[in-house]
Amino acid sequence: MADQRLRAGVIGCGGISNSHTKALSLMPEVNLVAVSDIDESRARAFVEQYGAEHAYTNVDEMLARDDIDFVVNATANNLHAPLSIKALEAGKHVLVQKPMALTLVEADAMIAAEKRSGKKLMVSFFEFFHPAFKRAKELVDRGAIGDVFFVKAIMAWYTPSTDVWRFDPKISGGGILMDGHVHHVAYFLHLLGDPVVESVYSEHGTLNSDARVEDTGVTLIRTSRAIGEISGSNRVLEPNAQNGRLFKEWIEISGSKGTIHIRPTERPSLRVFLNDGELPEDLSGGWIAPRLEWVPFHERGRSAHFNPEEDPWVGEHRHFVECIREDKPVISNGQFGRNVLEVLMAGYQSGRERRAIPLPLAAVAR
Ligand SMILES: NC(=O)c1ccc[n+]([C@@H]2O[C@H](COP(=O)([O-])OP(=O)(O)OC[C@H]3O[C@@H](n4cnc5c(N)ncnc54)[C@H](O)[C@@H]3O)[C@@H](O)[C@H]2O)c1
Repeated sequence: MADQRLRAGVIGCGGISNSHTKALSLMPEVNLVAVSDIDESRARAFVEQYGAEHAYTNVDEMLARDDIDFVVNATANNLHAPLSIKALEAGKHVLVQKPMALTLVEADAMIAAEKRSGKKLMVSFFEFFHPAFKRAKELVDRGAIGDVFFVKAIMAWYTPSTDVWRFDPKISGGGILMDGHVHHVAYFLHLLGDPVVESVYSEHGTLNSDARVEDTGVTLIRTSRAIGEISGSNRVLEPNAQNGRLFKEWIEISGSKGTIHIRPTERPSLRVFLNDGELPEDLSGGWIAPRLEWVPFHERGRSAHFNPEEDPWVGEHRHFVECIREDKPVISNGQFGRNVLEVLMAGYQSGRERRAIPLPLAAVAR
C-alpha cells in the first residue's frame, strides 16, 4: 500500500524546535523527511535525535524537495515572514512560530502568499492544545461560566543574560510583548471567538535589566463585551515558582456565572468556580484522575489533575495534519495571527504615546 503519511520538514533546529520535531517524530501519520539549520551540528543532532532522514544547512535546498508537504518554521522572529513566504511559494503548508512576524506589513505579505499558494498557514499557539486551556475553552463555549467579561493573565520568567537574540529588537521585534504577551493575547481572542478589539492600552518598559527591548509590561485589551489584562516579564525572580524553573503562568477567566483558573505549571491545572453550586454533569468527562470529590460551597473550587505526559505539540500537529488532509480551516490562520500581532503593535504604539490606541491601526503604525 502507498505511504499515506504527510511528509514534514523543519526549518530551524533550536530550542522550541525540539518540542515540534519530537512531536512530529512521534506521529505515525507523519514522515519526518528533513530538517535544516544554518548550524550544521544542530541539524545533524536532530537527525540523530528525532530520526529525520536528511539534514540541510541551506533551507532553499530543503524547500526544493518535492517530497515535503509541510514545514514547521521554528526560526527566530525576523525569519518568520521571509522563510514562511518562501516555503508557501515552494508549495508547502507552513506552521510558523509566534509571533507571526515583526510587523503588520510582513504579516500582510504572509497572508497574501497564503492566499496565492492555496496552502495553509498556521501560527503556532501551543496553549490552544494544552489540556487545561482546551478544557477552559470548551467550558466557556458551552456557557458554563456565562458571558466572559474579564480575563486576567500573567506569564513571567527570568532570563539571566540579555545578550541573546530575544533582546535584539532587529531580530525579535520587541521584548516581553512579542515573547510572552503574544500567547495570552492569542488565547484571549481565541476564548472570545476572535472578537473585534476596540482599543489597546499598554504600560511597558525596561525596568529590571539593560535590555534594548522592554522586559516588563501590562497590556489592556478592550472589546465591546470584555477586558483582557495581559501582563508579564522576563526578569521576574521568583525562586521555586511553580515548576521550579522560574516560569509562572496564571490565567483567570471570569464570566457572569463563575470563574475559571488555569495554572498550567501547577496541579491541579484548572479549577472552576461556579456561583450556583452545581457543576455541569459531564464536567468530569475527559478529566484525568484523580478526580476530586464535590467540594462544599464554602470551599468552592472544582479540581482535577492533568496528566503531565499530555503534550500540546502532538495535538497541535495532529490538528494541522488533519486540516491539510481534509482541507479544513486551521485554528489560527494568517489572519488570526495578524489580529494578535495588531494588538501587540497597538501596545507598542500605546507605550510610545502613553494613551489607549483604537483599532484598527492606521497604516502608518503598521
Ligand atoms: N512556547 C512557544 O510557543 C515558543 C517557545 C519558545 C520559542 N518560540 C518561538 O520559536 C522561535 C524560535 O525560538 P527558539 O528559542 O527556539 O530560538 P533558537 O535561537 O533556539 O532557534 C532558532 C534556530 O534557527 C536557526 N536558523 C537561523 N537561521 C536559519 C535559516 N536561515 N535556516 C534554518 N535555520 C536557521 C538557528 O541556527 C537556531 O538553531 C521564535 O520565534 C520564538 O518566539 C515559541
